[in-house]
Amino acid sequence: MKESITLLGRRFEATIPEKDILAAVRRMADAIARDYEDRTPVFVGVLNGAFMFVSDFMKHYPYPCELTFVKLSSYRGLTSTGIVETLLDLPEEVEGRDVIILEDIVDTGRTLQELVHLFAGRNIKDFKIAALFYKSEIYNGEYTIDYVGMEIPDRFIVGYGLDYREQGRNLRDIYQLKKQPMINIVLFGKPGAGKGTQATFLKEKYNLQHISTGDVFRRNIKGGTDLGNLAKSYIDKGELVPDQVTIDMLKDEVEAHPDAAGFIFDGFPRTTAQAEALDHFLEGRDMKIDATIALEADDEVLVARLLERGKVSGRSDDQDESKIRNRFEEYNVKTAPLKAYYQKQGKFHGVNGIGEIPEITGRLAAVIDQL
Ligand code: IMP
Ligand code: MG
Repeated sequence: MKESITLLGRRFEATIPEKDILAAVRRMADAIARDYEDRTPVFVGVLNGAFMFVSDFMKHYPYPCELTFVKLSSYRGLTSTGIVETLLDLPEEVEGRDVIILEDIVDTGRTLQELVHLFAGRNIKDFKIAALFYKSEIYNGEYTIDYVGMEIPDRFIVGYGLDYREQGRNLRDIYQLKKQPMINIVLFGKPGAGKGTQATFLKEKYNLQHISTGDVFRRNIKGGTDLGNLAKSYIDKGELVPDQVTIDMLKDEVEAHPDAAGFIFDGFPRTTAQAEALDHFLEGRDMKIDATIALEADDEVLVARLLERGKVSGRSDDQDESKIRNRFEEYNVKTAPLKAYYQKQGKFHGVNGIGEIPEITGRLAAVIDQL
């Protein structure tokens, strides 16, 4: 058994070895066999997660029995969506029979609730539930679990049929998601400082979600979302979009990525008022900014870079040196107070933004690694 594994960028550490799982499966088979010796029950496996459990269970069940399957799904990634879909319906043979559900894992109990519904009105003689893994701390259902393999803490697990985004089902042992503290970063830098470039590397390296406020704005406006339309109404009048509208967009963005190990905020906040609003919003979600990192570079270097970029991209605001210097001036005026705001919280880090791209990534990583 490996000590830890990585699936789709997330780390999992070994928790329950195969032999303990098999011992639990055997205990369940023995207990059910004692109760059903002369009754020929129909076992109903819940796909996909229960396939390995069902297979080992059947090998240990010694008396006459039948087997069928249903298929339900409520999970997307690491969190229960609350919506349970029935993907494979119940077969006829359960009518008038002793039915025992074989579930791989019971978490909130929503899937179970749906299962019980599925069987309601089907004239079942006797209905029992067996779950290999049972998260008793968060189970919120009204039905008793008749046969439990193992009670486990409220942690996300993979292996022995259980998946993280469809992967990890083939593992023989159970691995538990490693709790990584969230890292939330604000990235500052003048135009041309390389924020976008560096964000691309950092999000890969630390599994962070990059929220570029500019992109979020454009996407909402283009997609005609309520918030996008609201923002556009201000822009069309030549007014500044109120901070609350921007915060609401960021909120949607944060909520759309519940599995992210953290976020890189890029292009927001730009003023102290926005920084306060962001802190307030994050506090309400039990999150916080861990570091604000400024990519620092000499104006002359940046002017040269932007003029070069302007030649290639054709962006008009990158081709006019006086416009470039105006953007720098605006940055100086607005970001200076922000620097003070974050310095007071002990979160401000300036990083030399001149050099080869990997070299600069290394400097940023050094700041993040010591958080
Ligand atoms: P519930 O509806 O919240 O009880 O969730 C039950 C379903 O979610 C199970 O049938 C699994 O498919 C999935 N699930 C719950 N917890 C875990 C876990 O820790 N790892 C993998 N899948 C899980
Ligand atoms: Mg399941």
